[in-house]
Amino acid sequence: MGNPFADPLRFEQRVAECAIVIFGAHGDLTKRKLLPALYRLAYERRLPPSFSIVGNSRTPLSDDEFRSHMHDSVKEFLEDSPFDEELWSSFARNLHYLAGDLNTPKLYADLKDKLKSLGQSNVLYYLSTQPSFYESIVDRLGEAGLAKELPGADCAWRRIVIEKPFGHDLESARKLNAGIHRSFTEQQIYRIDHYLGKETVQNVLAFRFGNGIFEPLWNRRYVNHVQITAAESIGVEGRGAFYQEAGALRDMIQSHLLQVTSTIAMEPPAEFTPDALRDERAKLLRSIKTMRPEDVARYAVAGQYRGFRQEKDVKPDAQTDTYAAVTFYVDNWRWAGVPFYIRSGKKLPKRVTDIAIQFNAAPLSVFSANQDPAPLQPNLLLLRIQPEEGISLRFLSKQPGSGMRLRPVSMDFNYGSSFGERSPTAYETLLVDVLRGDPTLYTRQDMVEASWRAVQPILDDWGSRKFDFPNYEPGTWGPAEADAMLARNGHQWRNS
Ligand code: BG6
Repeated sequence: MGNPFADPLRFEQRVAECAIVIFGAHGDLTKRKLLPALYRLAYERRLPPSFSIVGNSRTPLSDDEFRSHMHDSVKEFLEDSPFDEELWSSFARNLHYLAGDLNTPKLYADLKDKLKSLGQSNVLYYLSTQPSFYESIVDRLGEAGLAKELPGADCAWRRIVIEKPFGHDLESARKLNAGIHRSFTEQQIYRIDHYLGKETVQNVLAFRFGNGIFEPLWNRRYVNHVQITAAESIGVEGRGAFYQEAGALRDMIQSHLLQVTSTIAMEPPAEFTPDALRDERAKLLRSIKTMRPEDVARYAVAGQYRGFRQEKDVKPDAQTDTYAAVTFYVDNWRWAGVPFYIRSGKKLPKRVTDIAIQFNAAPLSVFSANQDPAPLQPNLLLLRIQPEEGISLRFLSKQPGSGMRLRPVSMDFNYGSSFGERSPTAYETLLVDVLRGDPTLYTRQDMVEASWRAVQPILDDWGSRKFDFPNYEPGTWGPAEADAMLARNGHQWRNS
């Protein structure tokens, strides 16, 4: 294979020349997600001919040592793409390393020199460190003059991507926002939630607003309830120290699943522009009914799998929720009274993320005399986010034979067979977006704060309780209380 960097025409209309500075270059995210995504973008020829990646962490390493570590990681974590040694050598020439302590001004002076020597004026900073370093990095960048964009003809951009968790609760998220705003304007800030970059989550927008037949049904008159599930079969995978402070409610529901909820439930934006879309998402998140403290036990269930307390770096009496299920209500004209059941957990029977829109049953069954005793199943629309990405619509059909026996069947759309091509990973999509200056799929300050506000009463309640954990076995669908929560409304989880 020839050197893809040698063909400048392939780079037309790609991103501008720039440097990507990764703070936390030794961490898991860099190895598993960022570098594989950047390599894949190079493979797709979507990076400019001259770009630089500067990795930072405290460990002293030469450029070549850093390249060799990244070579091994990319090879290991590159999903569904071939690894090409020749392409890697061209790619690796753009990788640089800068050792240094994030809390000292020296690192930022060195970074300034480094960027100068690389001849890069557009810079993307990627914060992939422990969250406790975020404010300090941002302050130091500001003090060193590294956050300021250059006006006029020399116009050079400076952007910053901030990984989740964005704060630990509403108050800390507000404080962090204020801290970042000391050095960067909101237009320069890209808070990443990788679920928004998933093809299937973006497709919810296409499905809802590109088709005429679903939107008229998308409301409380027709929708009985919505279930959003993000189940993982894995446990905490060596992230015990981080996870025991976070838990499923913070790690998945406050961030990813509330953003998915906003995508499912928001009003159609007037136009497909970053702020029009984000305004609608923010409005929806603000409409989530605030739970009263006395209602938390009824609307939220915490679980912990047996064996979590024995994981590495986890305290023997940890109160962490490795499972959380919440009933949210959206207080607006479209959704008033429709429950949105949202759950996520580790060590569940399988890895699946989906959204089930359960419609009201037919008002009257004219066939009931010929039916099995089981009630007719209402229509269900299933948006499968991962794996087996696709959409299914369940409806009743006549079973062949004499008499009128009905059976649920489904109409299926499958990404793999319909498009037959690889979809970009969420990180590939989001990296290209930030490099092009498109914040549509990034979260804004008001969105992040509204989603913290929605879970804050639960955090307050759970923080003051002592749970009788563990309360579910690995490989099961979570604690029995989560089933009871739905049963009170006459509903049950769709255990796919
Ligand atoms: C991360 C969480 O944000 O998302 C992890 O911190 C979780 O705990 C992961 O495993 C799930 O992402 P995905 O893309 O594998 O569904």
